[in-house]
Amino acid sequence: MTKITDILETMEYGPAPEDASIVREWLNDHSDGFGHFIDGEFTKPGSGFAVSDPATGKPIANVTQGTAEDVSAAVKAARSAQPKWAALGGHERARHLYAIARHVQQHARFLAVLETLNNGKSIRESRDIDIPLVVRHFYHHAGWAEILSDEFPGATAYGVCGQVIPWNFPLLMLAWKVAPALAAGNTVVLKPAEYTPLTALAFAEICREAGLPKGVLNIVTGDGETGAEIVGHEGVDKVAFTGSTEVGRIIRRQIAGSGKGLTLELGGKSPFIVFADADLDAAVEGVVDSIWFNQGQVCCAGSRILVAEAVADRFTELLRRRMDKLIVGDPLQKSTDIGAIVHPVQLHRIEELVAKGRDEGVTIHQVGAPRGCFYPPTLATEVQPASILATEEIFGPVATLTPFRTPADAVALANNTRYGLAASVWSENINLAIDIAAQVKAGVVWINSANIFDAGAGFGGFRESGFGREGGREGMRAYLRHAQPRAKKPEAVPDALDPRPVDSLPAAMVDRTAKLYIGGKQARPDSGYSYQVLGPKSAVGLAGMGNRKDIRNAVEAAHKAGGWGAQTGHNRAQVLYYLAENLSARADEFIERLKSFGQTQTAAKAEVETSIRRIFWYAAQSDKFDGAVHQTKSAHVTLAMNEPIGVMGIACPVARPLLGFVSLVLPAIAMGNRVVAVPSQSHPLAATDLYQVIETSDVPGGVVNIVTGERDQLAKTLAEHDDVDAMWYFGTAAGGRMVEEASAGNLKQTWVEDGAARDWAGPEGQGQTFLTRATQVKNIWVPYGE
Ligand code: NAI
Repeated sequence: MTKITDILETMEYGPAPEDASIVREWLNDHSDGFGHFIDGEFTKPGSGFAVSDPATGKPIANVTQGTAEDVSAAVKAARSAQPKWAALGGHERARHLYAIARHVQQHARFLAVLETLNNGKSIRESRDIDIPLVVRHFYHHAGWAEILSDEFPGATAYGVCGQVIPWNFPLLMLAWKVAPALAAGNTVVLKPAEYTPLTALAFAEICREAGLPKGVLNIVTGDGETGAEIVGHEGVDKVAFTGSTEVGRIIRRQIAGSGKGLTLELGGKSPFIVFADADLDAAVEGVVDSIWFNQGQVCCAGSRILVAEAVADRFTELLRRRMDKLIVGDPLQKSTDIGAIVHPVQLHRIEELVAKGRDEGVTIHQVGAPRGCFYPPTLATEVQPASILATEEIFGPVATLTPFRTPADAVALANNTRYGLAASVWSENINLAIDIAAQVKAGVVWINSANIFDAGAGFGGFRESGFGREGGREGMRAYLRHAQPRAKKPEAVPDALDPRPVDSLPAAMVDRTAKLYIGGKQARPDSGYSYQVLGPKSAVGLAGMGNRKDIRNAVEAAHKAGGWGAQTGHNRAQVLYYLAENLSARADEFIERLKSFGQTQTAAKAEVETSIRRIFWYAAQSDKFDGAVHQTKSAHVTLAMNEPIGVMGIACPVARPLLGFVSLVLPAIAMGNRVVAVPSQSHPLAATDLYQVIETSDVPGGVVNIVTGERDQLAKTLAEHDDVDAMWYFGTAAGGRMVEEASAGNLKQTWVEDGAARDWAGPEGQGQTFLTRATQVKNIWVPYGE
C-alpha cells in the first residue's frame, strides 16, 4: 500500500502563480516611461533606458537617465526642504515615518510583485522577507525620530544625504538608507540601481500619497554616472553607498578631503562554519538560507562553507540531497525557491567565474535550471583557499566547501579573506560557537542561523566590506553629527625639517637624539638621519627622521601585539593606571620639556596635569565602554560587542605636543587597539620622552609605537598600508585629503580633522566620540529555545 510519506516524496507541486495583473496595469499606466521624483513631483520622462523582467528578458518599463542638471535640481530641492524638515522635530517626523510604514504595508503585495518582476527574486522572498523588513524599518526608525533628542542629545542631522543603492534588495536597501536619514532630520537624494529602479519609483508615489513634505525624498534614476554626480555634488553632506567594493573605493577617493560623511556597505565572502557537533540537518537548511537565498546575490551570503573533517562527507551528502530538491524557475510561482539572476550581465559574470574555477581543477556539483537568465544552485568542492571561487565575491548561487581539522584552522580559513561582512557558526556547544564568533573578523555573526536581519541591530562590515552600520542605534549614529570643532585659524603647514646624518653631529647632540620606539624597544631611524627640534631660541634636541621602513617595522610590531586586544578591560585599565602614575611621578621633567618648546610654566603644568587626568579617564573607560543587547527577533539574543579595530595609525597635531598625543593614543589603546603614532612634527620630544614612561608601565611591546619625522609622509605610508586598519589624522586640509585618498586601498576607516580645530585641553579633547571611533561593532546573533 502506498504510504503518505511516499506520496509526499513523489508529489509534484501544481502551478501557483502570484497574480501580477495590478502591477502590470500600473506599468501600463506608465508606458510613456518614468521621470525622476524631485521636489514632490515626477519629472517628464527623458531619454534613458529600458528595464526588464529578468525571468523573461522582456522590457517592462523605461526610466530616465539622470543628468548633472537632474541631480542638481534634486539636491536643490533636498537642500531647501531640509531646515524645515529638521525643524519639524522628532515627533512630527516620526508621524511621517509611521505613515510611510502603514502605506507600504497597505501596498505590500503590490510592492512584492513589482520587486519580483523587476529583480527576479522569488515571490516568497519578496513577500515574506523583503517587504515586511521594509515596513519594520520604517516603524523602527519612526521610533528613533520620536526619541532622538533624548537618545542623542546635542546631535544634529548632516543635511542632505546622497544615497546610492544596489539591485539585490532594491526596496529594502532603500529602506535601510532612507528611514534613518529621515528620522535624523536629513533630506535625501537617492539613486536606485539601473537594473531595479521600479520599487523606488513606486515608493516615491507612496510617500506622496502618505503626505511626506516635498523635497524631503528625491529619487533620481540612472547608472553609475548619475551615482557619481550625486556623490560628488557639493550640496551633498553625507554619502551612503551599498554596492561593490570596487565602486566603494572610487567613491572614497572621489570625496576625499570634501568633509562629507561616508558610510560604505560593500562586498563579502562570508564563511559558514560547521563543527562536528552541529545539528547537520539544521546547518543544511542554513546553507539554503545563506547562499541560495536571493540567488546568492547577497553581500553577506555564506559563500565559503567550512566543515569539520569528521562530518564533511556526511554533510556534503546531505547538502547535495537538499540541493536536488530546490526548485529553480519562475519567480512569480509561489513554490519557487530560486528565481532569476538579476541581469544577463550578472549571469555571465557568474558563469565566467565558475568556468575559471573548473579550469583550476575545482569539482562542481549542480542541479538543473531552466534556460534563460537562471543559474543552478552550485556547490564547489576540492577548492584550494587561493582559488578564484574562494576569494572573489561571485554574487550568485555558488558555494565552496572546504574541510577543516581544528577550531583554530576554521578561524584561520574564515579570516583568510580581505572582506569581513558576516559569518555563520554552527555548533551545539555554545562555548565553542561564541569563542569562534569572537575570533572571526566580521561585522555580523549568526550562531546556528544565517541571514537574519532586523531593524533593531546594526549591519555592516569590517575590513574591505566597508564601514559604518545600518540599523539600530549604531545605524542612527551614522546619520547624525555633533557640532564639529572649528579652527579659528587652520593648522599651518609645519616648517620643513632639516635632516642631517647622525654621524655628522657633535657627540653631545647625538646623545640627545630621541630614538624611535618600535616593538617595545628604542630604535635608530632606518635613514640614519635626525632633525633638530627647535625651542624659541635654539635647538633643544634631535628627533629621528623616520621613513617608510620604520613605519613598516612599527606596523609589524603592532600586529604581533594582538594579545592586547584579547586582554580583559580590567587588565588594560591596570596598565593604564600605572602609566598615569608613572607620568605623574615624572611630571616635572615633562613640564620642563614643554617649557623648552616655549610654553609658560602655567601652560606646561596644565598640559601635563590634563594629560595625566586623561590617562586615568581612559583607564577607567577600558572596562566600561561596552556594547548592548539589542531588541530584535523573539527568542534571539543579539549582542552588539565593541571590538578594537586592530592596528591604528595616528598622526598627531602639531600643537599640544604631549596632550595631543595622549588624547589620541589613549582611547585607542584603552579599547584594545595597537597604535603606530606620529607625534607632533615640530615638537615630538614630549612624546618620545613618554616611551620611557611606557616602558616602565608594563605596556606590552608593540602596543604603542612611535615614529618621528615628517608627519604627512609618514601618515601617507600608514594610510596606504594594507595591514593598518584605521587611520586618524589631525593636521592640515591637504594632509587630510591625502590620507582619505590613500586609505582607499584597503578601505580603512579614517578620522580626519584640522589639527588646530579641537581644544585639546577642554571637553572636546576627551570623551565617548574617541571611544566610538576606536571601536567597531560586531553583532552576534544567538537564537535560543527548542
Ligand atoms: P556596483 O557597485 O557597480 O553598483 C551599485 C550601485 O552603484 C548602482 O546603483 C550603480 O549605478 C552605482 N554606481 C556604479 N558606479 C558608481 C560610481 N562610480 N559612483 C556612484 N555610484 C556608482 O555593482 P554592480 O555593477 O551592479 O555589480 C557588480 C558586482 O558588485 C556584483 O557582481 C557583486 O559582486 C558586487 N555587488 C555587491 C553588492 C553588495 O551589496 N555588496 C551589491 C551589488 C553588487
